[in-house]
Amino acid sequence: MAYKLLNGKEISGQIKTEISEKVKKNIAEGGKRPHLAAILVGNDGASETYVAHKVKACEQAGFKSGLFRFDNKVSEKELFDKINEINNNDDIDGLIVQLPLPEHISEEKVIQFINPKKDVDGFHPVNAGRMTLGLPAYISATPQGILELIKRNGIETSGKHCVVIGRSNIVGRPLSILLSQKNETGNATVTLCHSRTKNLKEISRHADILIAAIGKEGFVSKDMVKEGAVVIDVGIHRVKSDKTKSGWKLKGDVKFDEVAPKCSYITPVPGGVGPMTIVSLLKNTLLAAEKKIYG
Ligand code: GUN
Repeated sequence: MAYKLLNGKEISGQIKTEISEKVKKNIAEGGKRPHLAAILVGNDGASETYVAHKVKACEQAGFKSGLFRFDNKVSEKELFDKINEINNNDDIDGLIVQLPLPEHISEEKVIQFINPKKDVDGFHPVNAGRMTLGLPAYISATPQGILELIKRNGIETSGKHCVVIGRSNIVGRPLSILLSQKNETGNATVTLCHSRTKNLKEISRHADILIAAIGKEGFVSKDMVKEGAVVIDVGIHRVKSDKTKSGWKLKGDVKFDEVAPKCSYITPVPGGVGPMTIVSLLKNTLLAAEKKIYG
């Protein structure tokens, strides 16, 4: 089958332009320039890269941004003090704390300490709960980006069988909820598979839309995919390669080369879900500056 690529790089570029135009218009009308604060703890290579991309995207969209760095040994108290300061700073609209955090710090406690009105990651229980009920909320960036990518490519979700592999709080679980909701990007029949699922292959082979968010490089092989399926790959893994100058390349949760020929649409890695995640964070920060969710 001739497959089409779901080009997240191109679509995210269009969305970034739309966002920066809206920012210019808001400012011309006396509105506020969106301002995102990011907290980064430690020196994890992947987290450094993600945060750098987020800060750069803010600049491109005309947002203000601030990066607050702490070393690995930071105490919970020091982090809470910084979060408290940001919660109380009226100029800052959105706050993200890049995950994962070092083991001695409770991610749960940190997330709950963020003011839900500034929680543009949508991780706070108030936002996760409101999203689940279909109330106005910040929707976490990766699920939101995936739905936008599906929508802007004219792919119908209504009545489709969507199989999500992976039940993380950040991607799999919220995505499974959103796809089942009664709205334009929902109305799907959803199966959420995970590491304890029996006969996963039998289930994934029935998916009209298959979303791989299990965090295992090359987990999805061609025998797990139906002919004509839409395949969305959330994985990002840095693997060694003797074919690139840098000595490594990025791969996903899907064995792209063998799976793509069976698909109607498939996301590349990189350039698929990743850039959509970043523009979704910008969208949430714009909503925060405009006070569109909580007034
Ligand atoms: N770590 C992996 N993905 C994310 C994300 O979307 N937001 C934050 N804060 N941390 C992450």
